[in-house]
Amino acid sequence: MAITVRNNKFILKTDNTAWILRTEEGYLEHLYYGADVPDCDPDHLVNRQILNFAPYDASLGLKYIYGGRLYVYSGANSGDFRTPACDLTDKNGCRGCRFRYAGYEILSALPSDYVLPHVRGDMETLKILLTDEDKGIDAELYFTPVEDCDVFARCAKIVNRSGGKICLNKAASMQLDFENGNFDAIFIAGAPGDEMRNVRRRITQGKFEISSRFGITGHSANPFFALCEPSATEDAGECYGFNLLYSGNFKSEIESDCHNCVRVAAGISDESFSWTLQDGESFYTPQAVCTFSAEGIGGMSVRFHKLCRKYIVSPKYADFRPIVANTWESFYFTVDEDKVRAFARKAKEIGADTVVLDDGWFRNADNENLGDWELAKDRFPSGLKKLVSAVKDNGLRFGLWFEPEMISRRSKLYQKHPEWLLNNGDTGSESRNQYVLNMGNPEVVDYLYGVLAGYIGEYGIDYIKWDANRYLSEVGDLRLENQGETWHRYVLGVYSLLERLTSRFDVLIEGCAGGGGRFDLGMLYYEPMIWLSDNTDPFNRTEIQFGAATAYPPCTMSYHFSKGDGTTGKPSLPYFRALVADFACFGYELDLTKMSESELAGCRAFTDRRRTLDKYVLSGNFYKLNVDNDYYYACMQVAEDKSSALFTFVQLNAQIRYESVIVKLKGLDPAARYRIGANGQILYGRTLEKAGLKISDLLCPHWKTEDALRISLARGKSGSGISFEIVRTDD
Ligand code: DGJ
Repeated sequence: MAITVRNNKFILKTDNTAWILRTEEGYLEHLYYGADVPDCDPDHLVNRQILNFAPYDASLGLKYIYGGRLYVYSGANSGDFRTPACDLTDKNGCRGCRFRYAGYEILSALPSDYVLPHVRGDMETLKILLTDEDKGIDAELYFTPVEDCDVFARCAKIVNRSGGKICLNKAASMQLDFENGNFDAIFIAGAPGDEMRNVRRRITQGKFEISSRFGITGHSANPFFALCEPSATEDAGECYGFNLLYSGNFKSEIESDCHNCVRVAAGISDESFSWTLQDGESFYTPQAVCTFSAEGIGGMSVRFHKLCRKYIVSPKYADFRPIVANTWESFYFTVDEDKVRAFARKAKEIGADTVVLDDGWFRNADNENLGDWELAKDRFPSGLKKLVSAVKDNGLRFGLWFEPEMISRRSKLYQKHPEWLLNNGDTGSESRNQYVLNMGNPEVVDYLYGVLAGYIGEYGIDYIKWDANRYLSEVGDLRLENQGETWHRYVLGVYSLLERLTSRFDVLIEGCAGGGGRFDLGMLYYEPMIWLSDNTDPFNRTEIQFGAATAYPPCTMSYHFSKGDGTTGKPSLPYFRALVADFACFGYELDLTKMSESELAGCRAFTDRRRTLDKYVLSGNFYKLNVDNDYYYACMQVAEDKSSALFTFVQLNAQIRYESVIVKLKGLDPAARYRIGANGQILYGRTLEKAGLKISDLLCPHWKTEDALRISLARGKSGSGISFEIVRTDD
């Protein structure tokens, strides 16, 4: 049983963790979250300390001081001075609320009117009803244990039954209080082209937040974060992980108060948010997911990866990702019909299965035509139908690039519907020569649905690359009474368009936002893979992919084998680029029509090999190895049944290294014997885990042959590595 209710306790369990809530004096309190414990009544943990200066329940006196209690969902302006989960303006214009426990229900699934992205599948869900009787406002809290992932999904619904209008100023998806919180926070920072940097910092008294004001998640922020013991490492120590299924402005707050209590609250950012609820109306928050690992940061990653693979990404893509040949870095805006036809023939030769016609098919430069979505007839005189057929005649799928949410000033749509732009009364800034459509306006969503459904239906488009190349600014919707609703309505509009398209058509949507500007669980619910960065330099990409893998599984990241000098001009060898692309959803992003026969044959070999690796990339458990070193990245992608694994070792710098490198493997069955693909050696899983594998004796070219060393250094090339399978054997 994942949910048990006993006496005054709610006991929620997953395979290895427990979350225990309790009620006392009519308040819902947090009691324990962590490793599973046999004793489900750890009442000795309740904090009844008397705190100076702290308000208390007037009817209970010092027996019930708000400031020392651990709560599950706190209201603002209520005598608990810590960061609230909920803040509202009531029908009299007064701020704040205080929730008290009012009952519970065990449901077989989330309510059917929950339409935001959520953990898939009908799972037992605990609904706890909190109420502020004085104000006539309820908070329904939903807890869904995802047992096999050690994850709890949470969301809240705020219901106004006050008889008047209220305004929600903040409604977090989750709150979690820790007594004696002594943590490091780990989160994802970065920038365009330098996404997914992992940052670690100590939590001290005060408040720390991770947030976005971009309107989308943004390149420099991500809703994922973790709290771990300061001594926790990749392999050991306690680590709590958190993430949101949300793609707009978010805020995760971590506050440590003067009693060393740490409160976490995460959800839609309250900074630009407010939401009017008329009497009888309600508001659902996005879902948050929380996990706990006693096996270090890596243990947290494994759990979140599994959740994402099994319960966030559509099951349609459980064991499938295309191998794409994309026209962008091949032709940019000079793409035309003849080039695409020739490109498709070569794509077929190298074993790709999908050709994606990227930006440029409807315009000559980035300053025009967004919103009209009309083919550039001068460069595609035979029309799209014939081109799609030509590509499909090669046995390939056809993909098309769109940037649905955007509009160019130089477009017919702009002339016709200037009122469809996000608009706060200012003339608005341009970014990449474009404006943003107001996705909160159902007319806009209907128009875009018509355009996209038209293309998919009429031309048989199998794949859409959905881009978004700017952040939101001057956000406003002059149709609305409450402008604070605009940002969230925008996100709801994006989701509703994605929902309509994906539920009606069998079309795979690859996400993108100028690279990794919108890489989050909300988008992954609709888009099984997202272009992680516009930086296709394999050196940088290695770091970006490893950074992202702290929270997201490799099967959600798309990355393509690109030009030898990549996007940074730094040369690299083809095998190295393929090695780095193997890690994720593989593809090609270079002019195949200019490649020699032997180069094409080389790519064919890369494709053929990569196809054999799907079982590791799409459903394997991912482990980072030896993270505490400065010059290489190593990882394992282990098949779920541990029968085999893919080992990858990537060295980024050009330095000749003479030291011995031993990498300790992870995730294998300790009692089983495995054959090492690189040299045929057979070793126990436990030996590989404890004693490790000696990499310097294997095939890294600059260690193996003097020749390879000389060539790669002479050309200023660096970057090398090795990747091979490790297979269980009875020998
Ligand atoms: C940004 C994307 O990240 C690129 O891959 C490409 O699609 C361009 N936009 C096209 O404008």
